[in-house]
Amino acid sequence: MAVSREPIQKEPVRLAIEGQDLELPVLEGSEGEVAIDISELRKKSGVITLDEGFVNTGSTTSAITFLDGEKGVLRYRGYPIEELAKHCDFIEICYLLIYGDLPNAEQASCFRSSIREHTLIHEEMRSFYNGFPRDAHPMAILSSVVGALSTFYQDSLDPSDPRQVEVSTHRLLAKLPTIAAYSYKKSNGQPFMYPLNKLDYCENFLQMMFATPTEPYEVDPDFADALRLLLIVHADHEQNCSTSTVRMVGSSNANLFASISAGISALWGPLHGGANEACVSMLEEIVADGGNVQKYVDMAKDKNSTFRLMGFGHRVYKNFDPRAKIIKATCDRLLAKLQLDDPLFEVAQKLEEAALKDEYFVKRKLYPNVDFYSGVIYRALGIPVQMFTVLFAIGRLPGWIAHWHEMHQSPGKRIYRPRQVYTGQTEREFVPLDQR
Ligand code: CMC
Repeated sequence: MAVSREPIQKEPVRLAIEGQDLELPVLEGSEGEVAIDISELRKKSGVITLDEGFVNTGSTTSAITFLDGEKGVLRYRGYPIEELAKHCDFIEICYLLIYGDLPNAEQASCFRSSIREHTLIHEEMRSFYNGFPRDAHPMAILSSVVGALSTFYQDSLDPSDPRQVEVSTHRLLAKLPTIAAYSYKKSNGQPFMYPLNKLDYCENFLQMMFATPTEPYEVDPDFADALRLLLIVHADHEQNCSTSTVRMVGSSNANLFASISAGISALWGPLHGGANEACVSMLEEIVADGGNVQKYVDMAKDKNSTFRLMGFGHRVYKNFDPRAKIIKATCDRLLAKLQLDDPLFEVAQKLEEAALKDEYFVKRKLYPNVDFYSGVIYRALGIPVQMFTVLFAIGRLPGWIAHWHEMHQSPGKRIYRPRQVYTGQTEREFVPLDQR
């Protein structure tokens, strides 16, 4: 049984402010992270803290995911990502993140059956797709259709009813791949393929993406396995932008569908989920420019240029990105098997080699990150660039849901409502329109 420990109380710190001497509690989490608890600061002193981008702010305690950027550690509910990637399918990871423990055989079987039951979307929802322009970005379709689930499934909207929360959780996990695949079919004008429940989660998604009613389609097991790995390594990453968004929206007691739809919008941004798309676009640019990898490495090092090598470096992982390490092996295996005649793969391999031995990159610990290899793998699987972030959303869904549940179950749950330091105009006299 997974445990969620109360933080340890440490020696408080003292803060001298506005002529007062305040004592602030200090907490320590189960992996040694230390935090000054400022929740009473404003009440006691009248002042607030300011932290643009929340770089130093813990918005919550959480028992879901631990990561240590210096050591390259990532664990879901205590289990190292490497072990989970080796032994689990994506459905087990969903169960682990959401319910806190790996399922036993019976729990896994019930969970799988329930997800299978919900893979169809309401027939009338299919007609939504007629209203979207053909060139609509699939992330825009995804967030709209997920938001619209709350119009069709009104029997599972109450965040305070555990049964309704469970049903909406299973519905979301089951329907997101269907909604995503339809957004791709919309873009290329092919007929939508219904889910096939005899297939597993990843196989089913590939079938809905690439099958047509006119030809038999067989899922390549290596493709399904690559997708399994990609979904697993993206499944959670603690309080990132989209997860914080899901918690923020959910804190107002908005229903799960509405909260996840907001998370999808946050993920769409190029600073968050869009980096693997940016990486493949960069590789395409290098190919179009004659494949001169060194030119781009030099440009990335040039302090007079704003160019950066997309897919290199990470805000948190400063030695290596454990997710990148896991999927690199799959990436190499797929490329060796497929022997695709696409110069982009050769450029990717040359770029990786050049950067890994370049002093600038070595000194700054700039290694290829998860987006470098995931972009290349998606390309090898034949997934169009615009769908990359959609795949990220399918992977991140169990993490979002787990955080939404955790936030609702927290005894100290309150609506998220940050403060601000106002810097605008002070009070001034109103000027009537004819005098302005
Ligand atoms: N290419 C060239 N130089 C770089 C790069 C890069 N990709 N990334 C960092 N640097 C340099 C940077 O110029 C700075 O050099 P100096 O110390 O001489 O000023 C040094 O390395 C440290 O960079 P930083 O900007 O302080 O690092 P950061 O932690 O703020 O940025 C990052 C992290 C991921 C935004 C950045 O490495 C970057 O822009 N990478 C390219 C975009 C990318 O691949 N993003 C996806 C990240 S993984 C997404 C996820 O986990 O969900």
